Amino acid sequence: MIRAFITGWPVEHSLSPRMHTHWLEHYGIDGSYDSLAKSPQEVGDFLAGLPASGFAGGNVTIPHKEAAFRACAELDDAARAIGAVNTLWIKDGALAGSNTDAYGFMANLDDKAPGWGNALSALVLGAGGASRAVIHALVTRGFNDIAIANRSVERAEALAAHFGVGVRALAWEKLPDEIAGSELIVNTTSLGMKGQPGLEIDLGSAGTGTIVTDIVYTPLETPLLAQARERGLAAVDGLGMLLHQAVPGFEKWFGQRPEVDETLRQLLLGELARREAAS
Ligand code: ATR
Repeated sequence: MIRAFITGWPVEHSLSPRMHTHWLEHYGIDGSYDSLAKSPQEVGDFLAGLPASGFAGGNVTIPHKEAAFRACAELDDAARAIGAVNTLWIKDGALAGSNTDAYGFMANLDDKAPGWGNALSALVLGAGGASRAVIHALVTRGFNDIAIANRSVERAEALAAHFGVGVRALAWEKLPDEIAGSELIVNTTSLGMKGQPGLEIDLGSAGTGTIVTDIVYTPLETPLLAQARERGLAAVDGLGMLLHQAVPGFEKWFGQRPEVDETLRQLLLGELARREAAS
């Protein structure tokens, strides 16, 4: 039996167990994927003990992605560029880590907006952890003008400095001026999420070919995406990024590259609807 896990604090809300358990059943693999809540005090020892634990690897979610980054003996390019790890595995008796959020972001757009990577200019709203992954993805795909708008402009400036040429910071108030020149607009802030304030943005000046995507997936159709659709722009929801980011980990631990298909998407939509009804 191959064992994998997800750890976070808290971790109960994570949808990852639903995905991995579905794939284990679908592919008939003798494996498990457990939810392990670890407090910030516990996580260091937990990570240090992983190589001898019998786990093949696992996922790491908030707030442990930076601790996981520090605990790894080996990091891939994405993990290094993003400075956080969400996927761990044991390699030659030591902990190795990747960050698959950038991959998830790219794979979702490849799936839902083919050709998106031909664009060169992007506007990224937000400068947190998710923004780092998105910017790494955009740089990887050859975008050469990436503007980061953030409420606290210092965080946008720090990110722009981290990524260097082609990435610039923008004061939040300057957002309206930037829309017309952006071929891709990405929301990585929590604005528009259920229970959070809305994202006040007018897409009226956006070019007809502009693609708008949101990493928020509760609700699936955020007000930003609804506005994009109303204006006839391509709009891509954030659930696909969550689904796709799980693929590389599953393949590493269980030796099978799993497919992101409509069945999986519907399974998670059902789970989200159940949670909504229960809340
Ligand atoms: P994550 O790791 O998911 O990106 P985060 O690091 O907490 O989470 O970042 C949240 C992002 O949403 C930040 O860009 C934050 O802006 P600040 O850096 O100024 O805090 C943005 N955000 C959250 N609430 C916001 C609000 N009410 N208005 C504008 N931006 C907001």
